[in-house]
Amino acid sequence: MHMGRPVKSLFEAHFRRGEPADLNALCAFESRAWTDRMSRRSLRRLLASPSAAIVVAEADGAITGAAIVLFRANSRVARLYSIAVDPEYTGRGIAKALLAQAEKIARSRQCRSLRLEVHEKNHCAIRVYSGAGYQEFGRYAHYYEDRGHALRFEKELGFEKERAPSSAPLRLEQAVVGLAPPVADSSR
Ligand SMILES: CC(C)(COP(=O)(O)OP(=O)(O)OC[C@H]1O[C@@H](n2cnc3c(N)ncnc32)[C@H](O)[C@@H]1OP(=O)(O)O)[C@@H](O)C(=O)NCCC(=O)NCCS
Repeated sequence: MHMGRPVKSLFEAHFRRGEPADLNALCAFESRAWTDRMSRRSLRRLLASPSAAIVVAEADGAITGAAIVLFRANSRVARLYSIAVDPEYTGRGIAKALLAQAEKIARSRQCRSLRLEVHEKNHCAIRVYSGAGYQEFGRYAHYYEDRGHALRFEKELGFEKERAPSSAPLRLEQAVVGLAPPVADSSR
C-alpha cells in the first residue's frame, strides 16, 4: 500500500452556461472565491444580459468556478471580465477548462479574439493565461485600487465555428497531491 504519495484520482466537473436560477449559488460561490466580490445586483444583471455569458463549473453539487465574458455590439473582440475558482478546488484544471468554454462561446458569437486584464502581480492567473495561449499586448498603468498595473492579454480565436458548450460532463484526471490529509507511512 502506498502511503503519503501522489495518487491518480478522477475528478469530475461539469461546465455549463449560468442561468438566472443560479443567482443564489453564484453569490455563495463569490463569497468563497478570491474575487473582487461582485454584488448580487451585478450578478443578476449579468445573468440576464444578452451581452454577457457566464460559464459555471460544478463539482460535488456546488459551483466551484465561474467565468464571465462580455460582448459589445459591432465588436468582434470579447472580454473576459472575470474568472475565479473556489480555493478548495484550485490546481485541478478548472480555470483552464473554464477559459476553453469561454472561448467556445466567444467563437460561437463570431468573435475573433478574447481579451482580458490581469494584475501584474497575479502570477498564478498570468500562468493560466500564458499556458492557454494568451499574449500580452499592452498595459493600463495604475489600473487597480492598489495602483498596480493591469497587463492586457489577448488570444486570437481563429475562424473555427463552434457551437456553445454542451452540458456533457468533462472529466479531468489529475494527480492529487496533498488534497487528502497526509497519512504516516507505517513501513518506516
Ligand atoms: C487564477 C485561478 C483562476 C486559477 O484557477 P485554477 O483552477 O487553479 O487553475 P488551473 O488548475 O486551471 O491551472 C491552469 C494552469 O495554470 C497553472 N497554475 C494555476 N495556478 C497556479 C499556481 N498557483 N502556481 C503555478 N501554476 C499555477 C497550472 O499548473 C496549470 O498549468 P498546466 O495546465 O500546465 O498544469 C484561481 O487561482 C483563482 O480563482 N484565483 C483568484 C481569482 C483570480 O485571480 N482570477 C483572475 C483575475 S484576472
